[in-house]
Amino acid sequence: MKAAVFHKPGEITYDTMPDPRIELATDVILKVTSTAICGSDLHILSGAVPQKEPMIMGHEFMGIVEEVGAEVKNLKKGDRVVVPFPIACGQCFFCRHQASPACENSNYKHYGPDGDLADQKGAALFGYTDLYGGYSGGQAEYVRVPYADISPRVVPDNMTDEQVLFLTDIFPTGWSAIDWAQLKGGEVVAIFGSGPVGLMAQKAAWINGASRVIAIDPLNYRLEKAKAVNKVDTLNPNEVDVVEAIREMTGGRGADVCVDAVGFEPERSFLEKVKATVHMEVGSMKVLDMAFRAVRRMGTVSIMGVYGSPYDNFPLFRLFDKGITLKMGQAPVLNHIDKLIELVKEEKVVLDDIITHSLPLSQVAHGYDIFNNKEEDCVKVVLKPGS
Ligand SMILES: NC(=O)c1ccc[n+]([C@@H]2O[C@H](COP(=O)([O-])OP(=O)(O)OC[C@H]3O[C@@H](n4cnc5c(N)ncnc54)[C@H](O)[C@@H]3O)[C@@H](O)[C@H]2O)c1
Ligand SMILES: [Zn+2]
Ligand SMILES: [Zn+2]
Repeated sequence: MKAAVFHKPGEITYDTMPDPRIELATDVILKVTSTAICGSDLHILSGAVPQKEPMIMGHEFMGIVEEVGAEVKNLKKGDRVVVPFPIACGQCFFCRHQASPACENSNYKHYGPDGDLADQKGAALFGYTDLYGGYSGGQAEYVRVPYADISPRVVPDNMTDEQVLFLTDIFPTGWSAIDWAQLKGGEVVAIFGSGPVGLMAQKAAWINGASRVIAIDPLNYRLEKAKAVNKVDTLNPNEVDVVEAIREMTGGRGADVCVDAVGFEPERSFLEKVKATVHMEVGSMKVLDMAFRAVRRMGTVSIMGVYGSPYDNFPLFRLFDKGITLKMGQAPVLNHIDKLIELVKEEKVVLDDIITHSLPLSQVAHGYDIFNNKEEDCVKVVLKPGS
């Protein structure tokens, strides 16, 4: 079959790979109909999330069940499903406690309680390095889905792939960022990063009762997209002092909730890069620093952007003095997906309005180029296998 294969930092190509097969009786094989490129994939492309061996990329995918393992009860050949990106067994302590990103069984080589840099990660993720389980991803014609009775969800026939594809990751992810802050209604929510995850968090903030949603991004075309699809206020950190602007909008207090939808690879100056090298840091926590300052006292900061390094001068004093609540981690997609499918079905939310590019899988290298380099006003790339 054909697939998008990571070889080394900077190199993801369209290659021929062996077809996946049923390995355990609880697996299904999916014929992928649509898949997307995520900001998380860019951390692998850059080398900041390391991977040594060639690997099939992709954790945002959906498709048609092609082959069913002997013990699978909930799915049959021909079912059309979306697949959440964390791989969960459904049986272990964490799966039984609504904490599927901490599943004890799916990442059987590198799971552990520690959360180290080079070992002891949480649940396995599709197409997300050997440390996260070494499973092949779904930017491919076919993909093996383990524990098939647990996570995949059948989607309505009358909806297009594009309408439901983002239930695999970015909509539940943006939703989780807001859910962690438990809005009561009327909150000001500032969302750093207006890429796909930020855009989905903006949608979730409105649905959960925010009175004002502010999008922050250095790329004006992404802010324009946010205004067009989500009717938010916008701030460009290259044009205004974001923290001061947010305080001005909130009687000097700061936002009730700040979401980091950027992560450890924000836009950075040469000097910032030199400083990171001196401190042996990978990437930067500059966006988090800004969120800690922009949030009001006793407010909540949700960290959805990925972080994979220790940071010197972490401002614990500020967090303590302001009494900030911090929530972060891989999104617990399974906790929200059923409710979110209903929201999509009832047309209470539209997800496909963020798509800017739909390409054949054969053009995956170009897809990564424009998404990574923010060219052609790219916001979200959907890939179609078999074309
Ligand atoms: N926790 C999870 O479960 C989960 C799931 C999906 C994605 N993620 C992570 O979320 C992050 C965002 O993903 P995405 O797909 O939207 O990626 P993306 O790279 O398209 O979006 C990041 C956005 O941040 C903006 N940005 C850069 N520097 C900034 C700054 N200083 N201030 C404000 N904005 C800035 C960029 O211009 C870009 O628009 C990534 O780190 C990704 O790995 C986490
Ligand atoms: Zn993703
Ligand atoms: Zn489990």
